Formats: sequence, structure tokens, C-alpha cells
Amino acid sequence: MEFFEVVKSRHSIRAFSAKPIEAEKWRAILDAANHAPSAGNLQAYEVFEVRRRALLEALARAALDQEFIAQAPVALVFCAHPSRSAPRYGRRGISLYCIQDATIACAYAQLAATGLGLASVWVGAFDDNEVRKAIGIGQDLVPVAVLPIGYAAEKPEATRRRSISELVHTIE
Ligand SMILES: Cc1cc2nc3c(=O)[nH]c(=O)nc-3n(C[C@H](O)[C@H](O)[C@H](O)COP(=O)(O)O)c2cc1C
Repeated sequence: MEFFEVVKSRHSIRAFSAKPIEAEKWRAILDAANHAPSAGNLQAYEVFEVRRRALLEALARAALDQEFIAQAPVALVFCAHPSRSAPRYGRRGISLYCIQDATIACAYAQLAATGLGLASVWVGAFDDNEVRKAIGIGQDLVPVAVLPIGYAAEKPEATRRRSISELVHTIE
């Protein structure tokens, strides 16, 4: 799919079919995430791939019972890793760069999924510690986004956006 078509055809999907994701598509999604820029190229984040049904269920519980997470064949959990950024960037690395690194990687993965004909939804509403418990990580990592991915089992809802003129403030 052409880049701008990918951007425009990405919509949040909250119902997934049981159809598995082809291995080469999966690899391409992870590869896209790994190509995301990061502060100082430190890649101060970790990605957890969750496939086991019980763990997907636990993630759904951690995300305030958003059941569609458990329906997807797989979910990626993007976690900031502050201590990878701290030695070079100090407080800014801890409070900002590692979060941005994880966020950009997730955005790349999401767009890659769309480009490959797959569906996803960015999930940010969750209890951090419950997510940590579900995937077995400690306080050194900060869950930033959960991204269930699969084939869509619903038609996407068209969502509105602010106008460019309202959004963009031109400073002359
Ligand atoms: C930071 C962030 C957090 C979000 N959290 C959730 C969430 O917890 N559950 C959910 O269903 N959608 C969540 N979304 C998806 C948004 O609701 C969705 O992107 C928005 O309504 C625009 O719709 P679209 O993605 O179809 O363009 C989140 C999106 C972002 C960027």
C-alpha cells in the first residue's frame, strides 16, 4: 500500500477474527518498529509479544476489561526503559525520551500492520502495575501502549479530525 493510503486507511479496530497472522507479515511489523527513530539511537524501550490466551486475557483485565485485547491473536506491549536513556540524557531521558521512543516504535508497528492489511487499536487505558504483572516485568519498565493486532472482524468507524487551520499555528 502506498504510504499516504496507509496513513488514511488506518482506523482503530476493536473486533478481531481468529485468522492467524502470517509469519512474514509479523516479521515485517517488528522490523518496522525496530526502524523507528529514537533519542540518540538508544532505543530506550522494550517490546513484549503476547500470544498465550491466558496472558491476553490478563492484559484485557489490566486494560479495564477491554475484551477485544483477548480476542486478537497477538498483542504487542511497548514499554519505556528509562535506565537505557538516563546515562546519556538524565532526567529528560527518564521522563520524556524513553516514552517518546516507545511511542514512535508503536506508531511504526501500527502503520506497518495497516500496510499489510491487518487491523489494530492503540490501547493506553490500563493499570500499569497490572500490565507489568501480566507480562512479568518489574518497575524498571513503564508500559506505554498495548497494541492488539489481527485481522479485522468489523468495519472501521470513520473518525473526525480537527481542521488543519485549527490544529496548526503558523508563527510568522
Ligand atoms: C494514547 C492513546 C490511547 C488510546 N487508548 C485507547 C484505549 O484504551 N482503548 C481504545 O479502545 N482506544 C484507545 N485509543 C484509540 C483512540 O480512541 C483512537 O485512535 C481515536 O478515537 C481515533 O480513532 P482512529 O484510531 O480510528 O482514527 C487510544 C489512542 C491513543 C493514541
